[in-house]
Amino acid sequence: MGRRNSAEGNGAVSGPRPYRVASFFAGIGGFDLGFERTNSIKTVWQCEKKPFCLDILAKHWPDIPRADDITKVIGDDIPEAEIWAGGFPCQDVSLARMGPRTGLKGKQSGLFYDFAELIGERRPEIIVLENVAALLSSHDGRDFPIIIRTLADFGYGVAWRVLDSRYFGIPQSRSRVFIVGSLGSAETAGSILFEPECGDRDAETRRPDGAKLVSPFAIRVGNPKQGYVKKLAHCLYAESARHTGTDWSRNYVSYPEGAVRRLTPLETERLQGFPDDWTMPTHEMPNQDTLESARYHACGNAVSVSVAEWLGKRIVDALNAQRLANQTSALNVTPRSA
Ligand SMILES: C[S@@+](CC[C@H](N)C(=O)[O-])C[C@H]1O[C@@H](n2cnc3c(N)ncnc32)[C@H](O)[C@@H]1O
Repeated sequence: MGRRNSAEGNGAVSGPRPYRVASFFAGIGGFDLGFERTNSIKTVWQCEKKPFCLDILAKHWPDIPRADDITKVIGDDIPEAEIWAGGFPCQDVSLARMGPRTGLKGKQSGLFYDFAELIGERRPEIIVLENVAALLSSHDGRDFPIIIRTLADFGYGVAWRVLDSRYFGIPQSRSRVFIVGSLGSAETAGSILFEPECGDRDAETRRPDGAKLVSPFAIRVGNPKQGYVKKLAHCLYAESARHTGTDWSRNYVSYPEGAVRRLTPLETERLQGFPDDWTMPTHEMPNQDTLESARYHACGNAVSVSVAEWLGKRIVDALNAQRLANQTSALNVTPRSA
């Protein structure tokens, strides 16, 4: 989180030939950045509709092809990639939404089917899907099995797990469901999402000398002497208070003399694990309010970068293990005597 190097976001990856990711519903590139932090995955293609996000993607990945509407993409448009990742829109699934949830029948969340069609056509080795945990219950619980069945019918072994950003060094409580498909291997899908032993990802453990760690939220958001902050931010949503009436107010900084303010866009970037000013556009925006609203919205929509990084590492390990197993079994084949 916050780890910055000059190569971040420009696709530069060193070492042996990296695995390639095609990024769908790319937003501001949370998956792309997290995966590239493994130094073993390179982003080769992105698809995103929103002009503001496209500008941010072009700023950080200037040299790769991009599509601007998944409904218009055909299989041949997508360069060869072992991994396809996509956090498809959650508007019709989310509990934060006012009104009925139409789930996968909704116009936005229904874009899953466009993604699925492309998966069926190209069948990459690994699929990663991300969405709000409410996907597990939307449409009276009927949507989730449709997703799993769709991937299974294409020949994927599938695993899913709810991961909360707070356990990945990020001071934000944010539960998201991650679905991993591995072509022909449920075991590989499971090995990516589940570790055999308990992990130690909780950033709030003690230091080796016994001292309690300072809350990363306190470090990252404001000076505690001047502004008091809650230990954990509530989940950032893309909707602003203007839409839901509540979301900004659950993420606030309050001061001893009684003043309260909402988080700044920079703070929301930090709460999602992006480098500072990641969402500063290259183009002039009409006014400050529009700029801040776009940045807040984009961060609220994004996947937490440190969760994506963890997932990326596990995908690399799984793909390496698969390659090694294939090589070993190829070497074990006894050649037929002439
Ligand atoms: C939940 S967000 C994913 C955010 C992303 N994972 C990130 O880290 O920023 C879903 C994204 O899908 C995009 N989207 C919506 N309709 C689309 C379409 N027809 N084609 C491509 N992208 C679309 C939205 O603009 C939004 O950025």
